[in-house]
Amino acid sequence: MTRPRRVFALDLGTTKVCCAAADLESTGLRVLGVGEAVSRGVRKGAVIEIDRAAEAVAEAVDMAEQMAGVPIDTAIVGLAGGHITSQNSRGVIAVAAGHREVRDQDVHRAIEAARAVSVPSERRIVHVLPQQYTIDGQEGVRDAVGMAGNRLEVDAHIVTGANTAIQNVVKVVHKAGLDVDDMVLQVLASAEAVVSEDEIERGVVVVDIGGGTSDVAVFSRGSIVHTGVIPVGGNHVTADLAVGLRCDLDTAETVKRSYGHCLQLTLPADAEVTLTPMGYDEPVGVPQRFLAEIIGPRAREMASLIAAEVERAGPAGLFPGGIVLTGGGALLRGFAEVVQQETDLPARVAAPQGVHGMND
Ligand SMILES: Nc1ncnc2c1ncn2[C@@H]1O[C@H](COP(=O)(O)OP(=O)(O)OP(=O)(O)O)[C@@H](O)[C@H]1O
Ligand SMILES: [Mg+2]
Repeated sequence: MTRPRRVFALDLGTTKVCCAAADLESTGLRVLGVGEAVSRGVRKGAVIEIDRAAEAVAEAVDMAEQMAGVPIDTAIVGLAGGHITSQNSRGVIAVAAGHREVRDQDVHRAIEAARAVSVPSERRIVHVLPQQYTIDGQEGVRDAVGMAGNRLEVDAHIVTGANTAIQNVVKVVHKAGLDVDDMVLQVLASAEAVVSEDEIERGVVVVDIGGGTSDVAVFSRGSIVHTGVIPVGGNHVTADLAVGLRCDLDTAETVKRSYGHCLQLTLPADAEVTLTPMGYDEPVGVPQRFLAEIIGPRAREMASLIAAEVERAGPAGLFPGGIVLTGGGALLRGFAEVVQQETDLPARVAAPQGVHGMND
């Protein structure tokens, strides 16, 4: 038996930092250990204080090391945040003369040609993801290697990030004592865990609702067709509640998690939450429907921004797999229903697939 490949992953979120150690087995990922720390020094997915962020990373890594019983000195680091943008590009090459058959090197050259898009000097390419190949005018080729032809074209999805934002993430990871093995767009990593290959084939949208931002990845015909970042996340819901209830953010967060709902009318009219607003000495009863009245509009705003991203990717009919919601913000009750209403696509909250170990 071959030894499974061991991977370490790091997600530097706005709300929390996660580190995971896992073995890549033929049946999926076997998780060996995970660590989580309250994030600091990160805002909307971008590092704003290196020292504080590095502390949080070190905490999460220590925890994962202890649980896994293995040292972690390198990691695949997830990238997210408002500085990420994406575009589609096409690379065209002549298949190497004398072969008249596409070989690995030709595919590689075509991808390099697609990579040669003009990227502003302050940005850098994070991913070049091939979508489909065209050989001598024949579109829709999945695997070009071995096909006969003279002219090879590739359509690729190019993800770029701001140099400085990426450098700051690398600095944080180094400061925490780790090397950066590789960088991946966080939402692609999430997508891998929550949707099946079959769904990616048929067309599906993955949305990671984070604290400060929400990341969208749209798949169709087996490849990525669109990625986008929405500058709104679960923390905006909490902030709205804090204003509406005149309470502090911690109270608003607790109330949101325990009693928050996006849809007023699904709640009994007499259901109440007790809390102590600022300036009050005694707790007061607040109808649960009032919470929904505050949360609902923000949820609808997020859902309509998701709908706009989906629209950019193509007609809804291309995504029969619907919308799969992940990330902490997806746990908000009623949110999947609101997304369903705004996008006209089925929406569900994800459970990871193909991940086992640690009581599954
Ligand atoms: N049970 C819950 N109900 C509603 N919201 C929740 C719940 N648990 C967590 N959240 C919200 O999820 C958000 C954090 O999500 P997550 O941990 O995925 O973010 P992150 O990865 O740290 O942030 P980002 O991806 O924006 O950098 C917070 O806004 C939090 O309030
Ligand atoms: Mg996140």
